[in-house]
Amino acid sequence: MTMHQMIQEAAEFVRARGFDGHFDAAFVLGTGLGTLVDELSDAVSLPYAEIPHFPGSGVSGHAGKLVTGSLEGKRVLLFQGRAHYYETGDAGAMRIPVALVKELGIPVFVATNAAGSVRPDIRPGSLVAISDHLNLSGGNPLLRDHSEGRFVSLTNAYDSDLRQILQRAARKSGIDLPEGVYAWLSGPSFETPAEIRMVQILGGDLVGMSTVPEVILARYHGLKAAAVSVVTNLAAGIEGASPSHQETKDTAAEASEKFKRLIRSFVAELPHV
Ligand code: HPA
Repeated sequence: MTMHQMIQEAAEFVRARGFDGHFDAAFVLGTGLGTLVDELSDAVSLPYAEIPHFPGSGVSGHAGKLVTGSLEGKRVLLFQGRAHYYETGDAGAMRIPVALVKELGIPVFVATNAAGSVRPDIRPGSLVAISDHLNLSGGNPLLRDHSEGRFVSLTNAYDSDLRQILQRAARKSGIDLPEGVYAWLSGPSFETPAEIRMVQILGGDLVGMSTVPEVILARYHGLKAAAVSVVTNLAAGIEGASPSHQETKDTAAEASEKFKRLIRSFVAELPHV
């Protein structure tokens, strides 16, 4: 079966279960951030396990459900949980979900994640709008794609219009939202302090194990992309930090009220298209 056929099957399946019609934006919800789904009215949800060709989500803090509903008068599609490169060895683990966003005609793709901060001035609990990335994983979701589209430009990958809307949303909701460069390392082990010093030298502000392949795929499909990090910890070695998955989940949960306020305000500010 071709990729095209798999995407068609997935789209047909979800459309028949209420995921049809117009959507304004799609969000992938990272570790500890899945409770955004509780903010929706008229929510419909579908476990990934039921959707043909969807990846599983085997990481604690990730539910593995596709959810739609209305938020601030807009229709959104939420991916409650993601598949990671480190689970599958495939940087294209989110290929089908991102292609589904395109197939459903959704113009805006927003990835969210929990991240470590390599900047002592960006503390745990902060929200950061990603302005650009460093791919230090060695992986790319477009490896083995043979279309001309694989040579996609990643200039303005984190769309400047969406970043302005994020800043406006942050201002209106009284949230500080610095911008930062996100460095993608494969995980699942956390980084070494030496790797974190490398990220600092290379110009990174945050480190994490996701988001970059999804944004590459979103750009491949011509979607407008943005990404928001919740800083859950100082990265390895910074002020002696030694991150843990538990700390990541706990801090993301603590920051999730602020995160939800920002996303609500962002959705409210999105133009109707
Ligand atoms: N490193 C990588 N990924 C992460 C971190 C980190 O420190 N915190 C949350 N996700």
